[in-house]
Amino acid sequence: MKATLHIDIANPVSRIDDRLFGSFIEHMGRAIYTGVYEPGHPLADGNGFRRDTEELIRPLGLSHIRYPGGNFLSGYDWLDGIGPKEDRPVRPEAAWFAIEPNQVGTDEFLRWCERLGVAPMMGVNLGTGTPASAAALLEYVNGSLPTHYADLRRKNGRETPYGVKLWCLGNEMDGPWQICAKTAEEYGRVACETAKLMKWIDPSIELIACGSSFREMPTFGAWERTVLRHCYPHIDYLSLHQYYANNDGDIPSFLARSLDMNDFIREVAGICGEIKRELDAERDIGLSFDEWNVWYHFQKEGYDPPKWTVGRPIEEERYDVTDALLVGCMLNTLINNADTVKIACLAQLVNVIAPIMTEPGGAAWAQTIYYPFLYASRYGRGTALRTLADAPGYDCAGRKDVPCMDCAAVLSGDETEVVLFLINRDQGQPVVCEVILKGTRSGAGAKTAIGRISLSGCAPETANTKTSAPFMPQTSEQIVPAGERPLVTLEPFSWNMIRIPLA
Ligand code: AHR
Repeated sequence: MKATLHIDIANPVSRIDDRLFGSFIEHMGRAIYTGVYEPGHPLADGNGFRRDTEELIRPLGLSHIRYPGGNFLSGYDWLDGIGPKEDRPVRPEAAWFAIEPNQVGTDEFLRWCERLGVAPMMGVNLGTGTPASAAALLEYVNGSLPTHYADLRRKNGRETPYGVKLWCLGNEMDGPWQICAKTAEEYGRVACETAKLMKWIDPSIELIACGSSFREMPTFGAWERTVLRHCYPHIDYLSLHQYYANNDGDIPSFLARSLDMNDFIREVAGICGEIKRELDAERDIGLSFDEWNVWYHFQKEGYDPPKWTVGRPIEEERYDVTDALLVGCMLNTLINNADTVKIACLAQLVNVIAPIMTEPGGAAWAQTIYYPFLYASRYGRGTALRTLADAPGYDCAGRKDVPCMDCAAVLSGDETEVVLFLINRDQGQPVVCEVILKGTRSGAGAKTAIGRISLSGCAPETANTKTSAPFMPQTSEQIVPAGERPLVTLEPFSWNMIRIPLA
């Protein structure tokens, strides 16, 4: 199959916000306990955090990590998770039917983020919680005055405020599964009042209000409008969440779901614009896609681990090559919408629907989806460029003319190269793609060496495990003779990153 990709350097989408490359860790399953925190593990540091997990997290170059939930957030009393560990209460945790020992809490998480060099993104509980408990947490974390909760932080061994900038006003409050779910009116009101209070206490913070839990929610659209009408002047971002499943094994349809994600983003951006005009507001509200991933394998297997245990091993997805390709397409979608999506979180980070897996007391390893994220995060920083692709399309359930080649193009921050992220969705045929770069002298005067990293050559159901990693990046270089345009071959069913130096 032949394709042509036109890119004009003078036609950017937007600067890419570094916060597009965040992740999320919740008190859920084994994400915290035996995932990042396991005091008895041979590789645990003096704080009980696993060094082997950290070694896999660091290369991802995460901009931020969202915490502590998720659905967990809506029943969480943050006061349970501070102070001497031996005094902290053990609680039944009703979001995931587990026991929460509270051995990791706000201070442990924030100090772990500091050691990792990653910014934290915190959530305040608007399920069982109140504006007052949210303000108290903010005071504990960021307070610099000699006041009660700031003093409590000092008493707990932390003099300097943590300076957390990003705060989520609850989580998925439209979902009936949520502890103390709310109507849009109820949530809009409490989110507005909480936002006012929090910004009065610390005007430097940025706030994210809950959008719909996913696009197929019956209240999608109406929820966003109502919430925005209540909160618009007091918030900075509206959240989107979406997970995709491949329950019937229809790979072409599954790989087309990133186009649904694109539609979803545009719809929510459109609603934000509509309410901005209605309210005659001056500021734009940005989008925070703070939960996105593939999620279905574990539920399909039908295993329900015993309830009311610590770190019950739920939602441990075993990701395959097909999932990695969709994750690559979803990353492209985020980059291509960099004008509206300013924050995103791959949900989640360790063990629970995660790129990184660990064994209690044992090894840690990277799943297939780790690699597209790793390279997008490393090389997808700079300016998103508009792409115009001419590639064959296919029809599948629910969609016509899905391009067999998915693409995103980024002008690097130092403007020395254009980085292409290209996925061949076709299982049988390679795509031979001619790249036409406008606005650059690349390829005109001297030969150009194009760097390339590919993930290819594996059957769709291939997974990486503790003992074998068949899905690994392959590095190569291609020389483009002087005066010629780059012609890149994308192997069937492959993810590719192409780095074209600018002359
Ligand atoms: O990320 C797993 C769960 O998915 C989160 O707790 C919730 O917000 C979403 O439904």
